[in-house]
Amino acid sequence: MVSADCLDHPVIPAHRYEQLVQSVVDYAIYMLDPDGRVVSWNAGAERIKGYRADEVIGRHFSLFFTPQDCAEGRPERLLRQALEQGVAQDEGWRVRKDGSQFWAMAALDVIRDDLGQIVGLAKVTRDITDRRDSALQLDAVRAQLFQAQKLEALGQLTGGLAHDFNNMLTIILSSARLAMNAQDPARIQRMLQHIVDAGQRGTELTQQLLSFARHRKLDVSRVAPLELIAATRGLLEHSLPSDIDLEHHLPSTLPSIEVDAGQLQMVLLNLLFNARDAIPGSGQIRMAAEVVELVGEVEGLHGSFVCFEVQDSGSGIAPDVLPRIFEPFFTTKAFGKGTGLGLSQVYGFAKQSNGAISVDSVLGKGTCMRLYLPTSDPQADRQLDR
Ligand SMILES: Nc1ncnc2c1ncn2[C@@H]1O[C@H](COP(=O)(O)OP(=O)(O)O)[C@@H](O)[C@H]1O
Ligand SMILES: [Mg+2]
Repeated sequence: MVSADCLDHPVIPAHRYEQLVQSVVDYAIYMLDPDGRVVSWNAGAERIKGYRADEVIGRHFSLFFTPQDCAEGRPERLLRQALEQGVAQDEGWRVRKDGSQFWAMAALDVIRDDLGQIVGLAKVTRDITDRRDSALQLDAVRAQLFQAQKLEALGQLTGGLAHDFNNMLTIILSSARLAMNAQDPARIQRMLQHIVDAGQRGTELTQQLLSFARHRKLDVSRVAPLELIAATRGLLEHSLPSDIDLEHHLPSTLPSIEVDAGQLQMVLLNLLFNARDAIPGSGQIRMAAEVVELVGEVEGLHGSFVCFEVQDSGSGIAPDVLPRIFEPFFTTKAFGKGTGLGLSQVYGFAKQSNGAISVDSVLGKGTCMRLYLPTSDPQADRQLDR
């Protein structure tokens, strides 16, 4: 039974609030007057910033900012914003009494009296240095993972390429020998043309491989999807077994997207390698791309997206395996065949790019992976075309 006085809202005396604020140690909670001078100070503020109440009350809150932020007028700007808009939020370095710095998340809210007059500002600051460090570490690990994945992909690609280079050299050598022994100028001309063509193809291939391998740091730029697909296809063709057909369904134009081109190529290769691995003997891989307007049906996304689709006629994914495929290190492949990192990379990339990845799979029939990436601003596209 709930007693009646629990349902009423008892009036809490002001000193109880004071006690509550005072006992919070994870947040610095204090008040400023409208000029930015400290009026009250809680235990959390003392713990986080290192000053006792009697050392800071009456002093301007710019005391907690770095000299550079002060020189740039950051404290005043925050104060002005809070006074004008009722609230201001900030994230940045703050300085403790001992001179050490911490990464703070801070909110400044205007407090008004019953008549609507501003009486001061409530300042709540949290030390989120640990959180920021973990985010930075995560970024570093992502970059390392990308490198590792790239090496793996290069390994997979070069096997096929070596074979292809050998074919080109065979064409070059045999054409050269034939040309040396030929008398007919037209025939010699034809042989030389074969040599030039094979040499040209070799150069294109090395260019594509080098531009993929060289790509090191994350570099978001405007990417034309069709060009990127063509380059990826150029690389992949050589590492597909001959009994797997690679079909393409592409429109004549696609709007550009803003991503890291190297990562996108890596992601497409991951999807294509998975499709290849899922086909036991002969089969098809279909690669398609189109523009779609989403209204929330894919992970709540709205707007214009380029959808890259990789569909295979492979083994499909069992329903009990499906929920796990995006987990890092999850693989159903034999030791040495899979690392289980491909799809987690794809997932991370899709999220980071404000897009999504979706999967449809029927056991025994095949799998379709769709990667959605937001199109860039069409206005800017038109400028690019000019
Ligand atoms: N196209 C596909 N068809 C069938 N299974 C797939 C497909 N793509 C991914 N999978 C499943 O998801 C798992 C994880 O894929 P991934 O993260 O790329 O790691 P890996 O390819 O190294 O195993 C694969 O081991 C496989 O079981
Ligand atoms: Mg894979």
